[in-house]
Amino acid sequence: MSIHIGAKPGDIAEAVLLPGDPLRAQFIAETLLTEPVQYNQIRNMFGYTGLYKGKRVSIQGTGMGIPSISIYVNELFRDYGVKRAIRIGTAGSIQHDVKLRDLVIALAASTDSGANAIRLHGRSFAPAASFTLLKTAYDAALARGWQAKVGGVVSSDMFYTEDPEEWKLWAQFGCLAVEMECAELYTLAAKYRREALTLLTISDSLISHEQTTPAERQTAFTQMMEVALETAIS
Ligand code: HPA
Repeated sequence: MSIHIGAKPGDIAEAVLLPGDPLRAQFIAETLLTEPVQYNQIRNMFGYTGLYKGKRVSIQGTGMGIPSISIYVNELFRDYGVKRAIRIGTAGSIQHDVKLRDLVIALAASTDSGANAIRLHGRSFAPAASFTLLKTAYDAALARGWQAKVGGVVSSDMFYTEDPEEWKLWAQFGCLAVEMECAELYTLAAKYRREALTLLTISDSLISHEQTTPAERQTAFTQMMEVALETAIS
């Protein structure tokens, strides 16, 4: 086992879905996988391995924000040999044409986080998606009639920013939505030479302050989970 994941070598599949919320991990494992086995309970950050269409897939909660996802993804890549990591999460839209419930696929992640400045001694890095996973996910969504929006996102360190208009600067540079983890996932995938992707459903708008209802979130999330699982086993 690693420090934060109580799994034995081999307990975790080569492909892992990464929801922020550990209860989502439990929900996905119990409703969409067959033969789910829970491999992690440490800090209630649940992780499961099961079968999707007969192929092994794991689902691991990551918590919120870059420091938290960094711990889980480092251990998954370094200690468990995970090859494909797909974050599934929610994001706030910062563009007029990115609507509530839209599926956004993060091509790249800009960030205000200090993580890469620390890691690279003040230099910046361009965290980007795996092209193979991105193409697979885009095509899987399209085949189901879901037109995903593909573009840059912002991985912010702050949910409650001092300046409520902070997002406008990122919007000027074409970023589609704000979330809190993608830049670290993509950076770690580059470091460990693994494949990573982030799929996001738009849960709220920083422009209009609209929010999805819990029922809408569940429907959009279910569609995204299907795309993520298809991509994971591809
Ligand atoms: N900010 C950061 N992360 C988010 C948001 C947001 O507005 N909505 C969903 N995740």
